[in-house]
Amino acid sequence: MVNAVEAVGLRKTYGSGPGAVVALDDVSLVLPRGTVAALLGPSGSGKSTLIKALGFVSPADTGTVLFEGKAVVRDGQALADLARLRRQHLGFVFQKANLTSFLNARENVEIACEFGGKRQARQRARELLSYLGVAAREKSYPEMLSGGEQQRVAIARALANEPSLILADEPTAALDGARSRSVMELFRKVAHDRGAAVLVVTHDHRALDVFDVLYEMEDGRLRPYARTVAAS
Ligand SMILES: Nc1ncnc2c1ncn2[C@@H]1O[C@H](COP(=O)(O)OP(=O)(O)OP(=O)(O)O)[C@@H](O)[C@H]1O
Ligand SMILES: [Mg+2]
Repeated sequence: MVNAVEAVGLRKTYGSGPGAVVALDDVSLVLPRGTVAALLGPSGSGKSTLIKALGFVSPADTGTVLFEGKAVVRDGQALADLARLRRQHLGFVFQKANLTSFLNARENVEIACEFGGKRQARQRARELLSYLGVAAREKSYPEMLSGGEQQRVAIARALANEPSLILADEPTAALDGARSRSVMELFRKVAHDRGAAVLVVTHDHRALDVFDVLYEMEDGRLRPYARTVAAS
């Protein structure tokens, strides 16, 4: 399986002197396509910092990020057109859906399809909403949608350009247990059906069985997370 993204030896420090915070401490990670991975860990452990480095939003100070086998950032320097890469190959989902309030659900997805240069953007937006189980809400404006529905539309939008890498930073923090689980299951479906690599930051330990791989961060260090078997 091709690796969507690979990080080698990432380090990042915020600030300097005694107040400096090491947010990434020699982090290496491989995310193959077709895999859905969870990223766990306490507040301040560096999860969002890692997501931003892997998403070419804010680079690490040192280390290399490869995208589909090619080095694209090394020691904070871009080796490729990162804006284009983000636009055409990456999808982001955040804690809040951040839909555009004056566009309906379909238009929110359609505009992302157009932005990425997709033909038949309207039809594609409809297919994506249908894939995510919110086709019936196509004409609803964000304020008319529940939190879970908004998040499904946001995921449809993230899929607009058939990303090979999807990065989700606490996408279900505002949802209850059942809705959170069904969103996590959608990420699994996207990884397995569409061959994307999906990395999801989550604090919700109830849906960990959905993931193929579990990672945990602590004080900027990344390690595999040992799945504990629930006592019966
Ligand atoms: N822009 C910044 N400037 C200075 N320090 C920062 C900045 N962003 C993050 N930090 C610090 O870096 C560390 C890691 O932050 P990060 O946001 O990656 O943690 P996190 O694991 O995502 O936490 P949370 O679960 O609360 O979202 C924290 O100590 C944080 O205070
Ligand atoms: Mg965070």
